[in-house]
Amino acid sequence: MLADLMRRNADWSARKTREQPGYFARLATRQTPEFFWIGCSDSRVPANVVAGLDPGEVFVHRNVANVVHSSDMNLLSALEFAVEALQIREVILCGHYGCGGVRAACEDHLPHGLADHWLEPIRRLARNYEEDLGAGADRLRRLAELNVLDGVARVAETPILRRAWARESPVRLHGLIYGIEDGLLRNLECTIAPVPASSRTSNRSATARDKIRRPV
Ligand code: CO
Repeated sequence: MLADLMRRNADWSARKTREQPGYFARLATRQTPEFFWIGCSDSRVPANVVAGLDPGEVFVHRNVANVVHSSDMNLLSALEFAVEALQIREVILCGHYGCGGVRAACEDHLPHGLADHWLEPIRRLARNYEEDLGAGADRLRRLAELNVLDGVARVAETPILRRAWARESPVRLHGLIYGIEDGLLRNLECTIAPVPASSRTSNRSATARDKIRRPV
């Protein structure tokens, strides 16, 4: 019930203030988060909680199945604000195993309403990498990983990050996946970092693209 939620909030606020006097007054003056998190809306994967971060430490965008649509104004606005205004240097795209959105993208026989439009990039990945994904029990886990690798490559292609890297901003882009069954984050090792001007010949998104060709 809402009354319970309001009471919990009042208790939390009182406890924080008791433990750290001036906590909210300090937070109210400015935010200087170190991380920008793009994740799934799933209630079991709250960025602050699973990463052990306090209010003010992570700027967050979440959507169903952490899909990166390159024309999603919501995600792009948050990304631009994170990189340009907040000067965040660590951008994390985090997927998770057991994702209902990833599963729904593979259920062609069932209608999921608007989600069927939203999940189109995942459905396309499943189709394009059908052989690599296989048919076993790991299929959905691999597809969830692939969705992260694809998302990282898409974020890297946004003019926001291309501009940031062009002006030598040290912003780095990481792909992680979270296990609901063990509470652990895994690094998919597809980090994209700025390339020094002296050796700027290769494509920055090669890492993630390469991995997509060889799904883990
Ligand atoms: Co999910």
